[in-house]
Formats: sequence, structure tokens, C-alpha cells
Amino acid sequence: MPKNINTSEFDVIVIGAGPGGYVAAIRCAQLGLKTACVDEWLDHQQQSSLGGTCLNVGCIPSKALLESSHLFSQANTEFSEHGIKLDNIGLDIVAMQARKNRVVKELTQGISTLFKANKVTLLNGRAKIHMCDEADNNKHKHCVYVKNRKSRKCFAKLMTGNIIVATGSSPIRLQQAPLIDGYILDSAGALELTNVPKKLGIIGAGAIGLELGSIWQRLGSKVVLYEAMHEFLPAVDKSVSRQALKVLSKQGLDIRIGSRLVSTQVKNKKVTTIIEVHNGDGTSKKETDSFDQLIVAVGRKPNSERVLGEEFSVETDERGFILVDEHYETAVPGIYAIGDVIGGAMLAHKASEQGVMVASHIKGESAGINDGLIPSVIYTHPEISWVGKSEQQCQAERLNYKVGQFPLAANGRARAAGDSEGLIKIISDASTDQILGVHVMAAQASEIIAQAVIAMEMQATSEDLALTIFAHPTLSEALHEAALSVQGKAIHIKN
Ligand code: FAD
Ligand code: NAI
Repeated sequence: MPKNINTSEFDVIVIGAGPGGYVAAIRCAQLGLKTACVDEWLDHQQQSSLGGTCLNVGCIPSKALLESSHLFSQANTEFSEHGIKLDNIGLDIVAMQARKNRVVKELTQGISTLFKANKVTLLNGRAKIHMCDEADNNKHKHCVYVKNRKSRKCFAKLMTGNIIVATGSSPIRLQQAPLIDGYILDSAGALELTNVPKKLGIIGAGAIGLELGSIWQRLGSKVVLYEAMHEFLPAVDKSVSRQALKVLSKQGLDIRIGSRLVSTQVKNKKVTTIIEVHNGDGTSKKETDSFDQLIVAVGRKPNSERVLGEEFSVETDERGFILVDEHYETAVPGIYAIGDVIGGAMLAHKASEQGVMVASHIKGESAGINDGLIPSVIYTHPEISWVGKSEQQCQAERLNYKVGQFPLAANGRARAAGDSEGLIKIISDASTDQILGVHVMAAQASEIIAQAVIAMEMQATSEDLALTIFAHPTLSEALHEAALSVQGKAIHIKN
């Protein structure tokens, strides 16, 4: 290890400043722990930019572009119905991207401000954990060495008893579709395009494929999504996924399930793809297509490889996700891991809650997370959200359950807004009526699901929701009606 470098001691060192790491660092500091956070992210200007994947190339830039593209699409297809006449609707994609970049910058800078306000020491560079030298070891178990990413020189040595690894994840690459600048892109590249592709191919019809596909389809691309599995959104309740497939296809997304990428070739400024299409009866055929750009969105892998020194026996699973116990502690005492790097749902809010929990645990306070009640949202239009068990899960677990369902088409606010596609479905236990799962496809499904999470956290029954008064006219009334429907008492549909 290098000698004569700046050495400091901390109660906690957090590695990674994504939604897992930055929240953990702030909470540790709030609890009075002397905290440092090391993060290596650099923006296009080679400046430190906090917030990890979520703020820099994930949740926030995608939602900024989803919002802009939705407005563009509404201006083109819906305003006239409202009696609003617009001539020459134009698209300034450079301005749209500039707005997105401003939103990202403001939020990432906000984290730096929060770090300062909470006295979190920030180091920009790549961290690696090693056992401390014997001389340091009497007081501290672990040392973190921080390297400058450009010069690769180690410039700091930090010592501590508690490390939180929150190094996140990166896009999975496909051997048959290596990234090629301007042609074959990952999700980060797809959020940076400054020309609307005439024809855009997407490999993978998961959350990323659908959100990015929606953005570019709304802005004018012909979008084809290839999904290897035979089922569309298998984690989503079938009542919702079936309707989502119909609605999104009607919008223009060409979603082809049972279609696996075999090879790609970039020639004459086009990406040619060969896709193996499985017919579901054991037969398959090969199809060739050609695109201006191809996005690879086939999942993400943990950033677990480079952060731990070789002397540690931190266990990972076969895909590289770090294994942790119920306190998010690894097999090495004092080294914790949270967020995408430990797998499970790869969601920002999950990472943040784990960060808060580990901070409390390190401080000696008891804390817990209800893993069964982490909401998921896919930000298509309408949005898709869910929490708890799907009907197919209830069946697989042989649970006795009842179901209530309400279509948005029968909701006054949805009709007034001209946004009435979708449904809300509630599943409750057949004998206790406790809510087991809520599934939403609606314009503001991301907001509606929060009500379901609160109800389920309080162990509410569907009757509790049915007896609650909802303001009129609101989309949330569809949740009320779905709860009434579990009781066979819905007012605005035939039970
Ligand atoms: P990350 O956000 O990945 O942060 C890890 C940080 O650690 C990074 O800054 C990285 O540079 C740093 N790091 C890694 N190794 C080192 C090291 N050795 N030394 C120093 N620093 C290091 N989730 C949602 O909940 N809602 C959404 O709407 C949503 N949209 C998404 C859209 C897209 C396009 C993508 C790609 C993801 C989206 N996600 C969304 C997922 C979400 O971004 C992740 O679940 C979340 O960012 C995980 O947080 P994290 O803190 O675990 O890791
Ligand atoms: P994903 O796992 O959701 O979807 C990837 C899809 O690609 C799968 O359906 C898979 O079957 C398919 N696939 C894999 N290999 C293929 C091949 N060779 N050919 C065709 N299809 C193939 O992963 P995705 O969409 O990349 O997202 C990664 C993570 O980011 C997710 O875990 C998600 O939770 C998170 N995320 C969350 C969002 C949100 O909360 N709104 C938005 C975007 C991402």
C-alpha cells in the first residue's frame, strides 16, 4: 500500500453515493456518527456528480424525458379534443435534453449541499477496502484506499470499524450486441440521443425497455421491442400485464415476446439484427430487421468485483450479488452492503430504506424493513404499479383469496381527464380480508400505490379501505371502488 498519504479515521465509511449510499451517509451523520462517503461518478465535464445511477442516468433523467415526451405526444394527439388548437407543433430535442440535464444537475448538486449541511466528508474517487496494517489494526478493522480515477493514484487512506458498500449496478452487456457509439447503446446512451431515430430496436421489454421505448415512440420513432421470455412482464399481475400489453401496443410499441437476439451487425449506418422467434410450440424461426439505433436493456449486474480486497471472504451469489444477513452485514463483521449490489428488487427507494436501516443498526438502534411491501412502478402511460402478491403468486402459494377490480373507464376523474385506460385490482385473504396485494394501471398509478402501501403497512382489510372516504372526483376513488368490489358492493360497476 502507498505510504505518506492523507490518513483519517471515521465511525462509518460509505462507498457509493447513489440512493442507497447517500441516504445511508446522511442518516449516519444525523445519528452523530463521523461519516465519510466515497463516490467515483464523473459527469461529462469530468466533475463529481452524486446520486449514482438513479440521478445521473436512471430514475431522474428517464422521468424528465418521459414527462417532456408525454407533453409532446399530448400536444399532437389530445389537445385538439380539448378544443386547444396548436399550429406547427415542433420538437427541439436539444432543448428537451438540456432541460433534462438541468434537472439532473440541480438534484445532484442538492446532494452535495445536503452532505455539507450534515457534515458528511465527501471524497471523489474509486474506493477499495483492505484489512488495515497491523500498526492500525488495534483500533480499526478496515481501511479504505481511495484512488483518483484519472491518474489512478491513491490519494487517501480512511480507517473505520464500519463500512457500507453501496456500489450499485451496471447494465448487463450482450456478447452478440457489443456497444457501438451512436448505434448500439445501453440505457445511459439511450437517454442522451439528440436525434429521434426513425426506427429504434430495443432488446428486453422490462422496465427500462418499456420506459425508453415510450419516450422515443412518443417523439416519433417506430419502436420494436424484443423480449426473450414468452410472457410479458411476468412479475406483474396478469390482469394488469395483459391490459398493459394491449394498451402499449395500441400506442405503437411493437412488443414481440418469445424473441431472443442472436446477432447484430453495424453496416451502412444501420444496425441489422437477427432474432430467433420461438413460436411457443417448440418451433422457431429466424427474422432479420434493421434499425437506426439498438438499445440493450436486458437487466443489470452488481458492481461487486472491484471494491473488496482479495484478502476478504465476502460471499457473493453466482451472479455476483453480495450476500448479507438480516442486518445487511456481510460475512465480514463491520462490512455491510445495501442497494442494487445485493440484488433483490433493483429500486432506488429500496436502496435508500436499506441505507437508513443499516445506519440505525450501526448506531445500535433497532430497525427493520418490510421486504414484502416494497412498491414497484413502471412509468409508461398509463403507469403500472403494484405492491404485495399478484394473483398468480397467491395461486402458487395455494392461498385462499378474494379479488375486487375496478376499471378506470368507470371513474369520473379519469373520464374528465380523457385518461381512462386501466384498472385497479385488490386481492385480500379469503378469511381475514387482510389485503395481500394491490395492482394498478392508471395515469397516476405511482401516486395511487402509496395509499395501498400505507393500508397494507397498517394491516388493513379491504373493508377498511371500503369504509374510508375518498375525495370526489379523484383517481383514488377507483381504489375505493376496487375495495368495495371485493365485498361485492361496488357502486359504479355491476358486481
Ligand atoms: P447506484 O445508484 O448504482 O449508485 C452506486 C454508486 O456507487 C455510483 O455513483 C457509482 O459510481 C459508485 N461506485 C461504484 N463502485 C465504486 C467504488 N469502488 N468506489 C467509489 N464509488 C463507487 N429505480 C426506481 O426506484 N425508480 C425508477 O424510476 C428507476 N428508473 C430507472 C431508470 C433507468 C434507466 C435505470 C438504469 C435504473 C432505474 N432505476 C429506478 C433503478 C435505480 O437507479 C437503482 O435501483 C438505484 O440507483 C440503486 O441505487 P444504489 O445506491 O444501490 O446504486
Ligand atoms: P429487467 O430485468 O426488468 O428486464 C430485462 C428484460 O430483458 C427481461 O424481461 C429479460 O427477459 C429480457 N432479456 C434478457 N436477455 C434477452 C435477450 N437476449 N433477448 C431479448 N430479451 C432479453 O431489466 P431492465 O429493464 O434492464 O431494468 C434493470 C433494473 O432497473 C430492473 O431491475 C428495474 O427494477 C430497474 N428499473 C426500475 C425502473 C422503475 O422502477 N420504474 C425503471 C427502469 C429500471
